[in-house]
Amino acid sequence: MNLKQMAGIEAATYVKNGMIVGLGTGSTAKYMVDEIGRRVKEENLEIIGVTTSKATEKQALELGIPLKSIDEVPYVDITIDGADEVSADFHGIKGGGAALLFEKIVATYSKKNIWIVDESKQVEKLGAFPLPVEVIPYGSQQLMHLFEAKGFQPTLRKTEDNTVLITDGGHYIIDLQLDVIEDPMALGAYLDQLVGVVEHGLFLQVVSTVIVGSESGPETVHNPAAD
Ligand code: A5P
Repeated sequence: MNLKQMAGIEAATYVKNGMIVGLGTGSTAKYMVDEIGRRVKEENLEIIGVTTSKATEKQALELGIPLKSIDEVPYVDITIDGADEVSADFHGIKGGGAALLFEKIVATYSKKNIWIVDESKQVEKLGAFPLPVEVIPYGSQQLMHLFEAKGFQPTLRKTEDNTVLITDGGHYIIDLQLDVIEDPMALGAYLDQLVGVVEHGLFLQVVSTVIVGSESGPETVHNPAAD
């Protein structure tokens, strides 16, 4: 079993009968969704899934997991998702898989958020991983110029066939190469107020539990600020 799979399977044990479960996106979350699908099929686990991307929706439907949209549920009990970086103070960067907007919406309406990562994602400070910023296409070049002038080293994200990536929400993603983010709260607040920015990949004060796949087994770490 690889480290991502280890974290995904461990996280699925938090899912209980009757829960409304946010289903994250990415290669780690995929293992968790597979495991929930297995439990639905083999253990008659009864849950409602709320997906965070078209890719996860497709996977969940193939596995026979009953789904509702975020607008059809009163709240989400628990959301399990991957992350690109998790800092020592439990902030994170997400959006490497381009699903940050829907992921943040589902996380916001979740009573509990669990992140599943392999140990390579744990960092002291965020920023080595490029920070995704989801933007409206109209005016996106102006934002590119603005970020360039700020020294944020922006790149407009492309697909493998070199066309501009369009998110599930119909937007572009600009990745910022920041190297070290000294003050994530201040950067998040700055990005939040920019016209044309829909959302950014800084997930601050969101996660309550991180499950880390490591060579010695899954390690569960609780965010003391979430208690
Ligand atoms: C999707 O947009 C992301 O937020 C993912 O959750 C994140 O990129 C982690 O992906 P992996 O588990 O594939 O590394």
